[in-house]
Amino acid sequence: MTLPPLVLGLESSCDDTAAALVRGRDVLSSVVMGQNALHSDFGGVVPEIAARAHAERLDTAVKQALSEADVRLTQVDAIAVTSGPGLIGGVLSGVMVAKGLSIGLRKPLIGVNHLAGHALTPRLTDDLAYPYLMLLVSGGHCQFLIARGPQDFTRLGGTIDDAPGEAFDKTARLLGLAQPGGPSVEAEARKGDEKRFRFPRPLLDRAGCDMSFSGLKTALLRQRDALVADQGGLTEQDRADLCAGFQAAVRDVLSEKTRRALALYLEEAPESPAIAIAGGVAANQSIRAALQTLCDDQAVRFTAPPLRLCTDNAAMIAYAGSELFAAGVTHDMSLSARPRWPLDQKAAPLLGSGKKGAKA
Ligand code: KG4
Ligand code: ZN
Repeated sequence: MTLPPLVLGLESSCDDTAAALVRGRDVLSSVVMGQNALHSDFGGVVPEIAARAHAERLDTAVKQALSEADVRLTQVDAIAVTSGPGLIGGVLSGVMVAKGLSIGLRKPLIGVNHLAGHALTPRLTDDLAYPYLMLLVSGGHCQFLIARGPQDFTRLGGTIDDAPGEAFDKTARLLGLAQPGGPSVEAEARKGDEKRFRFPRPLLDRAGCDMSFSGLKTALLRQRDALVADQGGLTEQDRADLCAGFQAAVRDVLSEKTRRALALYLEEAPESPAIAIAGGVAANQSIRAALQTLCDDQAVRFTAPPLRLCTDNAAMIAYAGSELFAAGVTHDMSLSARPRWPLDQKAAPLLGSGKKGAKA
């Protein structure tokens, strides 16, 4: 029996420098070098700092991935790299390293869409068959996609402004909590009363699956300022209640929009009732639980890959690269970095571009 090709994946589209080796559905190694410390003084990812760090660290990440997988560079059959969407400097760093490796090793080069990497992850982790509905929720992305193949996606809707992870991060900043905001807001919310402050549920009154999260931070800011004006500051309980109210609003919007997206999806693919989530926000227990309940009620399979493969990583890029390679897709040295690259080329562009780059 011939082995599936050994694919080296590179990811550098935002603030994680990552390299991984994947053979078929086996992740032999997955190295993720985060950059939180480099950006923490600036309240967000600084594209130039990120790009420089990627350029400096990609070779270290590759060496580490090879060593953890116990393989030599010459054994690699193909090189897959995120060639968009994302912060242009970072994407360029990855593409240049991948081109160098491809020329040096005389092995095929495969440019991968970062969003496809996320969207195909449940096939890597759970062998999910096409088609399925995908909800991508992270610091940079928020969209519903029908996945039919490695290059065949239909977008049903997405955020028109901030991604939910961005809203969690901004909330944390407004309340003086640690970054990344998601885990700290979730921890506070566990101690809070979600009913004390009522936050808006944006766009629920509008048909369809588009979402908006930027108004939530304004509502939170107003509430916080009102408390400060009243009491001269925030108590521990105020903070917890604000977090709980905010998280409940995000959860309610995501679950109602998921209900609608599922209905649209099931009309098209009743034979394959399955939804998967990916992205950092998929780590949120309250959001996960709400989506799980929704799916249980409708006898829909719910897949949430393990967190290390839900957040940005290179194993998903290597895996998506393998699917493309199997479909005969390779690129030559004209492969370019694409800051914007929607998965569904036919869908109307969504508005907005967040701190982590274009929403695509
Ligand atoms: O997928 P990811 O690692 O990077 C991209 O944005 O592509 O997602 C990171 C985002 C951050 O905004 C972070 O605050 C959020 O995911 N996040 C969470 C949780 N853990 C991470 N949001 C809500 N609840 C969490 N437990
Ligand atoms: Zn991502």
